[in-house]
Amino acid sequence: MPDSYALFGYPVQHSWSPFIHGMFARQAGQDMVYRLHESPPERFRSDVLEFFSAGGRGINVTLPHKRAAADLVNELTPRAQLADAVNTVVRRDELLIGDNTDGAGLLADLTRNLGLSFDSPRILLLGAGGAARGALGPLMSLEPRLMVIANRTAERAVALAEDFAELGPVSGCAFGRLENHRFDLIVNATSASLRGDVPLIPIGVVDSMTVCYDMAYGVGDTPFVAWAKRLGAARAEQGWGMLVEQAAEAFELWRGVRPDTRPVLEALKLRAAPGPGTRP
Ligand SMILES: NC(=O)c1ccc[n+]([C@@H]2O[C@H](COP(=O)([O-])OP(=O)(O)OC[C@H]3O[C@@H](n4cnc5c(N)ncnc54)[C@H](OP(=O)(O)O)[C@@H]3O)[C@@H](O)[C@H]2O)c1
Repeated sequence: MPDSYALFGYPVQHSWSPFIHGMFARQAGQDMVYRLHESPPERFRSDVLEFFSAGGRGINVTLPHKRAAADLVNELTPRAQLADAVNTVVRRDELLIGDNTDGAGLLADLTRNLGLSFDSPRILLLGAGGAARGALGPLMSLEPRLMVIANRTAERAVALAEDFAELGPVSGCAFGRLENHRFDLIVNATSASLRGDVPLIPIGVVDSMTVCYDMAYGVGDTPFVAWAKRLGAARAEQGWGMLVEQAAEAFELWRGVRPDTRPVLEALKLRAAPGPGTRP
């Protein structure tokens, strides 16, 4: 019987993860299945424990369960501990180990896929939810000269900055406090794009040297990517590459094989390109 993996989320039907892990498995000759498991918050814990009792080998976790998953596992990897959020769980003997591959996926996309390099960058991270938490440690590894977190609810940005203060100078604020600042890299880790919105930040944060990255992804430009292009940003990218790279990290953790992400990303972009046969 093939080894069993699943994505737990609510909702989850929109996910591309079965497509991505299916391609990884074929490429690496792995006998495994990967299914979607829609699990409302009140059932998340029991559903996951049931999955592992039935022999499941590993799971991915998405909205809104990443914090709950950190409470459920027996051990956290250092990066999951730092993020206080789990998007990947692997079973080792009788222990469930929780990891967070989101930030590594973001960094791999920025540096390897998009070929970007940064020298003491000024970084703006928008949002203070699970994805922002996962991204902050890896972004701090770029040794920014300025690291600002801005969030609709300013207190959450301030609290997040305080949690990561040991890694270097980082501050949190409201969107409106960004007046008179420009940034080299702006990462949108809000879920505004999912509702067709753009975070209400001053346009002066972007200039012709700024790289704008939206963790969200979709058919055609996301609202944030379209906004960044209108402002003349140097690059305006969406999160397909992060999606594939964070999945590759999870796959390696589960199967001990590092998949080649390039053909998967190309196939995904082709499928997601505007036109017949695509889904939002
Ligand atoms: N590409 C990838 O692989 C990948 C991986 C992970 C996540 N993501 C994407 O990252 C995004 C965030 O995910 P998450 O897990 O961090 O979600 P989350 O924990 O629910 O956090 C949502 C964040 O978005 C902010 N927000 C929501 N609506 C907004 C609006 N209309 N304007 C401004 N800010 C708004 C929230 O601000 P408040 O605190 O004020 O509510 C909060 O900071 C989602 O789009 C998700 O799809 C992508």
